[in-house]
Amino acid sequence: MTILVTGGSGFIGSNFILNWFTHSSDTLIINLDKDECTQLNHLSNYQFIKGDITDSALVEKIFNTYNLTSVINFAAETHVDKSIHYPFDFINSNINGTFNLLEHSKKYYQNNKNFRFVHISTDEVFGALSNDDPAFTETTRYQPNSPYSASKAASDHLVRSYYHTYQLPVITTNCSNNYGPFQSPEKLIPLVINNALSNKPLPIYGSGKQVRDWLYVTDHCNAIERVLSNGISGETYNIGGNNEKTNIEVVETICRILNELVPTNISYSSLITYVNDRPGHDFRYAIDSTKLKTQLNWTPAESFETGIRKTVEWYINNTEWLKNSSIKLNDWYKTQYK
Ligand code: DAU
Repeated sequence: MTILVTGGSGFIGSNFILNWFTHSSDTLIINLDKDECTQLNHLSNYQFIKGDITDSALVEKIFNTYNLTSVINFAAETHVDKSIHYPFDFINSNINGTFNLLEHSKKYYQNNKNFRFVHISTDEVFGALSNDDPAFTETTRYQPNSPYSASKAASDHLVRSYYHTYQLPVITTNCSNNYGPFQSPEKLIPLVINNALSNKPLPIYGSGKQVRDWLYVTDHCNAIERVLSNGISGETYNIGGNNEKTNIEVVETICRILNELVPTNISYSSLITYVNDRPGHDFRYAIDSTKLKTQLNWTPAESFETGIRKTVEWYINNTEWLKNSSIKLNDWYKTQYK
């Protein structure tokens, strides 16, 4: 088996590759990403290709060189706040990049009928819920609210169209908020851990009462493997952790664990600072994963309580990684203000 993983250096992609090789050594995984990923370099049967999913010549070359059995498309710009201020990259990578992969997949599929395309998407395409609404299912109407979620919704629609128009065997997964090792400190959980360990304010947008449904990243990776091996082409699958928490609950839980593991003379929760709300901030996301559980026999192994403790411990033990990611992020913001 040869899998092209796009965005394999990112948070979920890199966890997917690491998790895959914990139980399967005879697959060749090719990672197409703009950035190299040091935590993957030690793997055998792993190959890194530096490049962009929008690069048609490069993607064509990859399809011509390898006997690909599947593409798993993780590559995407993913941070809502960035998309609000700098939407261009989101439209380019998420829409044009997916389109480019689909075009080359379509060509390749003509002579390689065992091929399939798995597209990794998000619950944000469904819009926002109130506290009383039922969780998103696979048939919930798309109502994206940010440039990020609109770009993901557009890519999901393209993927769907390649199944209906060209019979390309595609599957789309829509996941809730992921957390775990190797997540960029642009996102709430690593940002709060990083700031707390540096004695900096922990910013809570608006009321802090917004709700997210937290999914431990390895549970997500295992679900994608199920979908890859047993999912039905043309279908979509929701993947959620069934762990709805308000943002303030999440931050207070992290502070409590840090108080226990890295005690200082103050309580970390004294660093909590309410700041201006995110424009267009979606109030609540919640995923109903019944389809995946009943049809593909998937269950998440982590509760939020077990997953968040593991996660905080991982960042405490990998402060160097966290520091470097945070420097990279600051450098990125500086280039945008030029
Ligand atoms: O639901 C899946 C989505 O989850 C993915 O599609 C996105 O790629 C991923 O970034 C994530 O989106 P969110 O916007 O929910 O994640 P983020 O970590 O940015 O924020 C989580 C919540 O915490 C959200 O309600 C905004 C809030 N927040 C975030 C940051 C960075 C704060 O209150 N303070 C912060 O500093």
